[in-house]
Amino acid sequence: METNAVEFDRIAREIFAPVYPVLAEQLVSRTGINRGCCLDIGCGGGYLGLALARITELEMILFDQSLDMLKIAQSYIDQSGLAARVKVLQGDVHDIPLADESVNLAVSRGSMFFWNDRVKAFREIYRVLALGGAAMIGGGFGNVSLLREIEAKMLKKDPQWKEKRQQRIGKSKVQEYHQELERAGISSFEILQDEAGLRIVIRRTA
Ligand SMILES: C[S@@+](CC[C@H](N)C(=O)[O-])C[C@H]1O[C@@H](n2cnc3c(N)ncnc32)[C@H](O)[C@@H]1O
Repeated sequence: METNAVEFDRIAREIFAPVYPVLAEQLVSRTGINRGCCLDIGCGGGYLGLALARITELEMILFDQSLDMLKIAQSYIDQSGLAARVKVLQGDVHDIPLADESVNLAVSRGSMFFWNDRVKAFREIYRVLALGGAAMIGGGFGNVSLLREIEAKMLKKDPQWKEKRQQRIGKSKVQEYHQELERAGISSFEILQDEAGLRIVIRRTA
């Protein structure tokens, strides 16, 4: 198994863990979607998807390009008691191996910053969204106090952490995301930005 996957999972487990249940609650209250099929894109160890499965009736697909991350996610699924409703799927967001309009809710945290061609990825996400479905993509720490807690821990590991984060969510980046969504042919989106993070919400309407 790649050291990267193991190390990323350690950080998620030891530092980011409190964020996922908060984000899951926010996702459900913002989108109003709590049943049907949910795709967690770039799921890593699957923490967000599992947090969503715990508070909803969603059928979860934990989706990632890394088989190593999916092995870790599968081990958490096995321990969760939610295996009947949570599956893993390997693939690339630029070519999602799912049928058109088959997903009610798509979520993604901390992954879009690594995508090579976001226009293509946004188009793919929109393609798999069912009518009435929604996607919430981006980063985020849930709330400012969690952000501060995590920032303090991450700065000890990486003194550049704050600058790197700023580069992903700064004003010019937001403009870039806006243009990329338009180029993907998506008109029903909003970009939410506050101190706790940046999230793109896409809705598929008729
Ligand atoms: C920083 S991790 C975030 C993991 C998880 N969402 C979380 O918040 O704990 C980014 C994840 O995105 C995945 N990823 C990056 N590019 C991807 C792509 N093109 N398609 C699918 N997954 C991708 C990586 O393998 C990695 O697991």
